[in-house]
Amino acid sequence: MQFDLITLFPDFFESPLRYGVVARAILRGALTVRTHHLRGYTGDRHQTTDDRPYGGGEGMVMKIEPLYRALAGIAGAAERSVRAGAPDPARVILLSAQGRLFDQAMARRLAGYRQLVLICGRYEGVDERVAEHLADEEISIGNFVLTGGELAAAVLLDAVARLLPGVLGDAQSALNESFSLPEPAAAPLDCPHYTRPPEFNGWPVPQILLQGDHQAIRDWRARAAWDKTRRLRPDLCPAKPDE
Ligand code: ADE
Repeated sequence: MQFDLITLFPDFFESPLRYGVVARAILRGALTVRTHHLRGYTGDRHQTTDDRPYGGGEGMVMKIEPLYRALAGIAGAAERSVRAGAPDPARVILLSAQGRLFDQAMARRLAGYRQLVLICGRYEGVDERVAEHLADEEISIGNFVLTGGELAAAVLLDAVARLLPGVLGDAQSALNESFSLPEPAAAPLDCPHYTRPPEFNGWPVPQILLQGDHQAIRDWRARAAWDKTRRLRPDLCPAKPDE
């Protein structure tokens, strides 16, 4: 998969791409990431990317023209508009606090594209015509406001990259985790995990995990996952019939 990141801060992505699973995916060629400095697509001497909002108000708004030029310059994203009707190999995404909430199902859907182009907003916002006419979708990573879309883009990239074929070592590890179990009886959150030592500071590992009874361990994990989901994320639990 190809990621194209349109940003005012291309260096921002150096560390998120340099470690662990994502770095290995890039080394193996399962993932290619290109950053595009938005200032390179401005048309004026001052390389202006923002302007005052129409109608007045606080802050500055990101201009549409540099973003339009950046998208036109990115192979695939440009080709995408020409091939109307064909299955879309590329998806243009605007990261913003106003977007649809990102979740694991969305990460799985996005992992099916050949190319994702991520537009990272800054300042007070992005000219709405970008969301209306240039982006295929607008995504938020949570109900909070960040100073820019770069962190959100790095989060989205990470969540999608680990779902790409051959990226995670153990094929099972993307299945047996939070938000991913297909059976309706399974809890949405992953079960708790423990490793050695069996006791630390007087805090023991649940005895059942040390005894080698695989069915009992499976049952305990299913129960523990539900207990934790109920405790920390009651919003993810189905309502009881009388509620
Ligand atoms: N930009 C600012 N806040 C954001 C958020 N919550 N998600 C995505 N992009 C953002």
